[in-house]
Formats: sequence, C-alpha cells, structure tokens
Amino acid sequence: MLKITINRPEKLNALNEVVLNELKTIIQSMINDSSIKGAIITGAGEKAFVAGADISGFLQVDKNQGAQLARNGQAIFSMIEQSGKPIMAAVNGFALGGGCELAMSCHFRYASEQAKFGQPEINLGIIPGYGGTQRLTRLIGKGRAMELMMRGDMIDAQQAYSIGLVNKVIPRETLIEEAEATMQLIISKPQPALSALIEATNAAEDDTKKGYETEAHTFGEAFASDNMREGVTAFLEKRKPNFK
Ligand code: COA
Repeated sequence: MLKITINRPEKLNALNEVVLNELKTIIQSMINDSSIKGAIITGAGEKAFVAGADISGFLQVDKNQGAQLARNGQAIFSMIEQSGKPIMAAVNGFALGGGCELAMSCHFRYASEQAKFGQPEINLGIIPGYGGTQRLTRLIGKGRAMELMMRGDMIDAQQAYSIGLVNKVIPRETLIEEAEATMQLIISKPQPALSALIEATNAAEDDTKKGYETEAHTFGEAFASDNMREGVTAFLEKRKPNFK
C-alpha cells in the first residue's frame, strides 16, 4: 500500500505546478507498479489536506492558460478516479477548492474531526476547475453542490458526512491508522475484481465529458475577468475583495 502525502505545509499544501507534476508521476508509477495494490492520499501537517490550487500565480494566468490549467488538473484527477487500483483520501484538515476536488477524485474519503470542506473559488471571482462542478454535483446532488459553490464557505466534517461527501469521521490521531486498516482489507480482495468494479462504477456516470470541457472553458473565461483580478489580489494582500 502506498501513502501519498501532499507535502507543502507552509502553504497549507496548496497545489502548485511542481506538486501537481509530482502527484501525476507518483500516480502513474503506482498504476504501473505491480507490487502496489492501493493508495491513501493525505496532507502534511496538522492543518490542511490541501487548501486549493496555488493562488499566488493566478494574476499571470490568461483565459487560454486558465482553461489549460483546468484541463491539466482534470486529467491528473481523472487518472486517480480511473486508476484500476483503489485510492482513498484521508482528509486531515482543510480540503478547499482543488483540495476538495482532489479528495472527490479518490474512490472514497475518510475525514478527521477537524477537516473542513468547501469550494471557495467564487470568492476569487472564478469557479472550480479541477472537476469540482462535476464530481461535487454527482456526489452530493445538484442543489447542495450549487449552494456550497455559490456560498463559497466551508462545512465541517460532520456536515460533510451528513451529505455523503465523506464516508466516516475519525479523531485526528487515528485517521491514518483507520484508513490504512480499511485499505489493507480492500487490497486483500481479488485485484482484477477490484479493478472491474472501479471501472463499472465509474461508468455509471460517464456522461460527463462535455461537463468537464464546459468547466475548463468557463474556468478560463473567469481568468479574463476584473473580478478575478480583484479576488486574487485581495487574497494576496490579505484583505476583503471589493467585487463589481
Ligand atoms: N494558494 C496559495 N497559497 C495559499 C493557499 C492557496 N490556495 N491557501 C493558503 N495559502 C498560504 C497563505 O497565503 C499563507 O501563506 P503566507 O504564510 O506566505 O502568507 C499560508 O498558506 C497559510 O495560510 P493562512 O491564510 O495564513 O492560514 P489561515 O489559517 O489564516 O487560513 C485558509 C486558512 C484555508 C482559510 C486560507 O488560507 C484560505 O482561504 N486559503 C485559500 C483557500 C482557497 O480559496 N482555495 C481555492 C483556491 S482556487
């Protein structure tokens, strides 16, 4: 079993290009390595699973680069979702934006009592771009997904549990232990059957390809907006945004 730790705690494990590339490489090698049967993804430190895509470079991103950014993130998260080997998320803190999207791309999720979930992109004048509009809708239903994305605020682990975003809430101290015990049980099952059930279950929602492209396109559009400049600048300057 492989434990993948997103390790950038000083920036709350925000996903920059380096981290995303490393994640892609490790998922690829996990898929190709016959000695690895399954994986757990978690975040380094006490505070965050992943606090989102790295906002610090957003002001330099134009419309086309924005769409490309989304397609790249979507492709990596799809690799996780479509991995023939089980991958679960052990959400140990903030799972915001790309962090919530990463957790949702895993086959299922456990959370610590301190975990917090949200898609706060609207507060930056953009939208979720790593599959969030699609996977959140499928996972918790359209109305709840719309509300969470429109409000742009956070829900706690118990709320996430009550709407089916996570399967189990566990004290922080035993989160990884419990996740490992579950993954150990799962990987003791026959691998070809696990792989087949992942493929078949994913096929239940395979009418989404256009949805992802719509998301990438509109995500790119948002990068051409004044509101995005204001939202991101306000975040970087640690002040409240003043949207038009
Ligand atoms: N991208 C880049 N840097 C990020 C980040 C992100 N998504 N999330 C947090 N950071 C950085 C902060 O800028 C800060 O860096 P600094 O110490 O160099 O100033 C560091 O991580 C710690 O975060 P801080 O905001 O000081 O912690 P906090 O406990 O006060 O707040 C959050 C925690 C999660 C509420 C807050 O960091 C936040 O809102 N992050 C952005 C979440 C978001 O919008 N994600 C979606 C992105 S599309």
